[in-house]
Amino acid sequence: MSDIINARVTFRNSPIHILEKFTFKDIDSAYESFRNHSGLKELVILQTCNRVEIFGSTNNLDVSKIKKTWASLAGLEEVAFDNNFEIVDDTAVCEHLLRLTTGLDSMVVGEEQILGQIRDAVGIAKEMKMSGEYLNTLFDKAVKIGTRVRNSTGINKGTISVGSMAVKLAEENIDDLKSKKILLIGTGEAATLVAKSLQKRGYSFYVTSRTMERSQAFAETVGGKPINFEEIIRAFSNYDVLFVATVAPYFLVTFDRIKEAMERKSGMMILDLSNPRTVDEKVATIRGIKMMNLDQIAEMVDKNMRYRSNQKNNAEKIISEEIQVLEAQMRRLEVEPVVKEIFKDIDTRRTKELEKALRMLGETDASKVKIIDDLTKAVVEGIISTPMNNLRKASEQADADLLKAASKLFDYKNKD
Ligand SMILES: NC(=O)c1ccc[n+]([C@@H]2O[C@H](COP(=O)([O-])OP(=O)(O)OC[C@H]3O[C@@H](n4cnc5c(N)ncnc54)[C@H](OP(=O)(O)O)[C@@H]3O)[C@@H](O)[C@H]2O)c1
Repeated sequence: MSDIINARVTFRNSPIHILEKFTFKDIDSAYESFRNHSGLKELVILQTCNRVEIFGSTNNLDVSKIKKTWASLAGLEEVAFDNNFEIVDDTAVCEHLLRLTTGLDSMVVGEEQILGQIRDAVGIAKEMKMSGEYLNTLFDKAVKIGTRVRNSTGINKGTISVGSMAVKLAEENIDDLKSKKILLIGTGEAATLVAKSLQKRGYSFYVTSRTMERSQAFAETVGGKPINFEEIIRAFSNYDVLFVATVAPYFLVTFDRIKEAMERKSGMMILDLSNPRTVDEKVATIRGIKMMNLDQIAEMVDKNMRYRSNQKNNAEKIISEEIQVLEAQMRRLEVEPVVKEIFKDIDTRRTKELEKALRMLGETDASKVKIIDDLTKAVVEGIISTPMNNLRKASEQADADLLKAASKLFDYKNKD
C-alpha cells in the first residue's frame, strides 16, 4: 500500500531569509537525487517564493532519508530542519493540498498564482517521469476542487496582489509619488503585478531587465519606459523609488551602489519583492533609505485581507467536506490493481476452458461460438462483479482487512 506524504518548509514557519536556504537550486538534479536516495516512488516538487514543498508516494516512509537528501541538495546540516521542517501524511496531505489549491494557505489568501505554480510543478514532475498514478490523480482532483471552491465562495475576488500592495506602500510612504522617478527592475511575473498596479494608478515608470529586448517587450505589453540595465546599475541616484523583482542569485542592488547614489540625493524608497532577496539588507542602514522586503509587504497584504474572513470560513467548510471525497478517490486507487489482476486472471481461465470445450465439441460455427463465449462471460461477470464492487467500496471506506482478505483469497501478490 502507498502512503502519500508532504514535506515542507514554508513562510508559515520560516521567515524569507531562512526559507531561501531550503530552496533547490536545480530542480532537475533535485528530482534525480530524490529518485535515487529518498525512497519515494513518486514525487512532485513545488517551489515558490513562499514555500519549498515535496509531495511523494512511498511504500516505506523513511523521514531521515528525505531530510538527508534535501539537506545535501540545499547544502544544509540536518539540524537546520529542526524548527522549519514539517512532514505530514495521508489525510493531512489532502487537506494541505486543498488549502493550497483554494488559496487558503497563500500569503495573499485566494491569490491565483499558486494554481498556475501547482500546474507547472506537476508538468515538470511528469516530464521527469516522477509523478505517477497517485500524485497525478491527487493533484488533478485537488486543482479541480480548488477551482470550484474559489468560484463558489468568491475567495479569489478582489484579492490584493503583492505587486499592488508594494505600490500602495510606496504611495503611503512618499509624498507626491506622481512627481517621483520610479524604476522597476525585473520583467517577470512579480514585476508584471507591480507594473499593472502602477499603470492602473496612473504612475509613469522605467523598466529594466538584463536584455533590452525583454524590457521593450515588457513595456509594450504592461507599460513603462524601457531603459538599459547597465546604465541604471551605475546610476541609481536618478531614481526615487525602486521596485525590485528578479530571481538574480546575488545582490543586484548593493550597499556600495546605493551609498554612492545617496551622496547625491536625500531620500529613496526600495521595495524588494524578491525571494531570495536581490537588495542587500544592509542598504536599509543608509541614511535616507526606506526599505521594505517581501516579508513586510506580505504582512501588510495579510492585514488588508482580514475582512475576507467570511469567504475563508466558507472555503474551510467546503474543504472539510471535500477531503473525505478526495480521500475515498485516492483509496480507490489502492484496490484497482487488485481488481484488475483478479479480472485478468479469471478471464484467462475462462478463455482456456472455453477453448477446451469448443475443441471437444468440434464447434467452428462463428455464431454458435459467439453464443457460448457470451454465455461464459455472463456467468463469470455475474459471479465476480458484486464482490469486486464491494471490494472497491471497502477500499473507499478504508477497510484494509477486507482488502487483505480478498488479496489472500484470490492469491494476489502486490507487484511493488
Ligand atoms: N510570481 C509571483 O507571484 C511572486 C510574488 C512575490 C514575490 N515573487 C518573487 O519575485 C521574484 C521574481 O519572481 P517572478 O515570478 O517574477 O520570476 P520570473 O517570472 O522568472 O522573472 C524573473 C526575472 O528576474 C530576472 N533575472 C533573472 N536572473 C537575473 C540576473 N542574474 N540578474 C538580473 N535579473 C535577472 C529576469 O530577467 P531576464 O529577462 O534578464 O532573465 C526576469 O525579469 C522572485 O524572487 C520571487 O520569489 C514572485
